[in-house]
Amino acid sequence: MAKIRIDGREIEAPDGAPLVEVIKDNGIYVSNLCYIDGLPPYAGCRTCLVEIEGGRGLQLSCTATVRDEMVVRTDTPEVKSARQYVLSIINANHSDRCLTCHRRVKCMPGDVCLRDDVVTHRCLTCSKNYRCELQTTNDIMDVGEDSVEPWESEDRTYYEWEQPEPDRANPFFEFDPQMCIICTRCVRACADLRHTGAITLAGRGFSTRIAFGAGGQIDESNCDFCGACVDVCPTATLMEKPNKWLARTEDWVSTVCNSCSVGCTISVGLRNGKPVIVKPDTLNPFSDDQICVRGRFHYDALKAKERLGRHMVRQGNQVAPSTLDAALDAAVSKLAAVKDEHGPESIAILGSPFITNEENYLAQRIAREVIGTQNVDFTAAPVNRAARNAAAAGFGLERLPADLTAIPERAKTIIVVADDLEESHNIAAMRIKDAVDPRKLPVREPARLIVVSARRGELCDFAEPFGGVWLQTEPGKEAALLSDLVAQLATDDAIKSAANAAGLDVSALADGSARDDDAFQNALAILRDAATDQEQEIAVLVAPKPAGIALASETTKAAANLALLLRGKTAASSFYLMPTEANVNGAHDVGLEPRDAGLDFEGIIDGAASGTIKALLVAGDNPLMFAPGRARVEAALKNLDALIVIDQIETDTAKLADVVFADVTPIAKDGTMTSADHRVQRLGAAEAPVGEARPAWQTLRDLGQQLAQKLGAPASFDYAEAADVTEEITVTVPGYERFHYYGYHSWGRGRAVADDASGEIALQQVSVSPSTASPNGDVALISGRTLYTNLEAAAIHATNADKLGRGDGAFVNQYDAVEFGIKDGDQILLQNGSAELSFKAVLTNTVPRGAVFVSSYYDGGAVNALLPSENGTTAPARVTLVKQT
Ligand code: SF4
Ligand code: SF4
Ligand code: SF4
Ligand code: SF4
Ligand code: FES
Repeated sequence: MAKIRIDGREIEAPDGAPLVEVIKDNGIYVSNLCYIDGLPPYAGCRTCLVEIEGGRGLQLSCTATVRDEMVVRTDTPEVKSARQYVLSIINANHSDRCLTCHRRVKCMPGDVCLRDDVVTHRCLTCSKNYRCELQTTNDIMDVGEDSVEPWESEDRTYYEWEQPEPDRANPFFEFDPQMCIICTRCVRACADLRHTGAITLAGRGFSTRIAFGAGGQIDESNCDFCGACVDVCPTATLMEKPNKWLARTEDWVSTVCNSCSVGCTISVGLRNGKPVIVKPDTLNPFSDDQICVRGRFHYDALKAKERLGRHMVRQGNQVAPSTLDAALDAAVSKLAAVKDEHGPESIAILGSPFITNEENYLAQRIAREVIGTQNVDFTAAPVNRAARNAAAAGFGLERLPADLTAIPERAKTIIVVADDLEESHNIAAMRIKDAVDPRKLPVREPARLIVVSARRGELCDFAEPFGGVWLQTEPGKEAALLSDLVAQLATDDAIKSAANAAGLDVSALADGSARDDDAFQNALAILRDAATDQEQEIAVLVAPKPAGIALASETTKAAANLALLLRGKTAASSFYLMPTEANVNGAHDVGLEPRDAGLDFEGIIDGAASGTIKALLVAGDNPLMFAPGRARVEAALKNLDALIVIDQIETDTAKLADVVFADVTPIAKDGTMTSADHRVQRLGAAEAPVGEARPAWQTLRDLGQQLAQKLGAPASFDYAEAADVTEEITVTVPGYERFHYYGYHSWGRGRAVADDASGEIALQQVSVSPSTASPNGDVALISGRTLYTNLEAAAIHATNADKLGRGDGAFVNQYDAVEFGIKDGDQILLQNGSAELSFKAVLTNTVPRGAVFVSSYYDGGAVNALLPSENGTTAPARVTLVKQT
């Protein structure tokens, strides 16, 4: 550590640290309009001038680094005047708003300005007024005060150049180049923080400007609307489009995105009690200062009127609005009647990976303590349970200790087994890019990435070019390919003897085929190297597809075998299971799963179809959207005597219900959720409920209380707030002891698992279904989570659930399309014995030949009509593709 003096204060700072960051970290103001913390300096704005004793003239604090005994002054008249001068240059070419209006120094608050508007303060007509870094910098530097004109001594070049038109063509951002100060923060954020490179600096000299892609509209570029550039833009050039004019916030609430299991922490900005903007919240160190388009914009996906604001009770063929009391009466009487007549096993409860731990906890309490049934699950549970059980059998642990933050910090070899991680778990993919990016040198050695997937996702571009490899498989053949890799590694004497020493029985592995293609051989070489260097941190990350129990199980087994061969007894610390849905782990931890002879989701649906299950309470789940074999599920739900649904929207499942309780959105809830790496995180209610809607935990509490009274069960549901349930979870759920809603102070960092947890390890046999022949016109159907599609909007079949439409349609390999005579945008039919669906064809090179991809959420999960009910095979569904005339 170096000892330095800043403005007379003695400060300790790391030797070589960027001076600008040390100044800011110590609460001393320094303007720095082009600097981004943690990235190399651009040194373009020159507003960060300071005086460094012994240096020649004033120096840029963003390029200066800390050295022992340095003496720095940030507040001398010379420094201030120099910064005012460089600001003048910037202001001279800045938009003609109040800040730079020629009457700026004459207008006082309360005056009426030349635009016939009341002068209150600065940039009256700019959407970034009061939240603009350029404005604040001018303010603090007294530019415009003391008769210092904002463009002192400079030509007003802003008037001399034709200002480019703003780009307002997409639903997420507005780009208004006339506001741009060419600080290039956006360029560097996109390239260095997001590894996307959608923004460039085009032109030269005075015509230098910011350009997206080839210079067209943002939505025509490869921008994925993460908003990192918006976060760093110091002016109104790049702005979030929703609520652009309202987002001067009055309050911020910290909560968690529930659109995938990464569990990024977000801060929701409020105005008049309504969310108007979302920014990353750094509580979760893995997401840190980054989120994806879903976390940033899905708060705004639905309008209040599209959500449920009334509880409803069925009367004949119709559901009609009802009071809460009447709805509770109806639900309690129906459940009690079914229990009286058919016994507790005739009732089942579905919770959800989209609701909180507290809500799932109450749902399973009602099942077990009030009704007396073990039939508790959720639609996506069997797939995730199959993957978790496979991992548990391999590593001897129910909860894997691997911490996602290790990937960007230390991993040297990364194996990703996922359909397209960029789309399903965007921030996990981004952190893997962090690890692979050679620009992180010398801070860390770049990692080598092996991607195992049928579809080409963006991560594939971070494999080969950086010394890694993309192993493209046939759809559903990931486990086979991994098993071949494992079998080849096991022929290596050193690897075999290390495995034997770790107590692994290598003879349990099936013989794999040796593949001689370059990709396979390159992957083997990388893996052998990782096996040899045991000091090297590795990461094996598996994201099971939303459907396919056998596929999830066998793929996880094969990936676990690989991790075990590479790291033996410590392999669990390198193995990551990434559920598609946000709170799969929390739901499991709080008991939302069948125990003893209880039925799982598949059993519940079978029971409803056969008539042994008579009543179903569904809290936040939507089987008609998430379960394959939709016709069977629909028939089963219609066969029930009582279907009670708690949801924030009128899902297809809710439409069949006898009683519907209106829930609120996830950002209107208190409670906790548990991420893929077992981070228990606190939600904060940021939004007022719509109408009479209320958080599901309240409905579950009242249902539990009233049903217990009616049935004479001794269970108590005496909770005044969600935090009371959180408190009970600290007592009843192992691993959750310290997560007190009000008493825990390390939210985002605490995990419900010990870092060094270890168990009994074992290699497992992997079985893979043979390929199905592919007759002409018959293609494999792949389905997965797409980046942009909003769950709730898709669930009510909103046509703009994917506002950019990037995930809409059926994605067909472009060479297959030639054979089928299909052009981009043609209507096509996908059909099999179960259903026939019509899609717009999207031609692509991301889908392998002989396959077609449809988003799992598209049009309320329509693709599930074509996916078979769980059939125990790893083979993908097949459909016939027909061009519609
Ligand atoms: S939104 Fe993200 S991907 Fe798009 S330009 Fe900005 S930083 Fe790049
Ligand atoms: S768009 Fe914003 S961040 Fe990018 S160069 Fe212009 S002012 Fe800077
Ligand atoms: S970008 Fe900032 S300085 Fe420029 S007009 Fe808007 S608020 Fe004022
Ligand atoms: S990566 Fe997942 S948790 Fe993070 S913002 Fe995106 S959808 Fe939300
Ligand atoms: S922050 Fe140092 S030159 Fe811009």
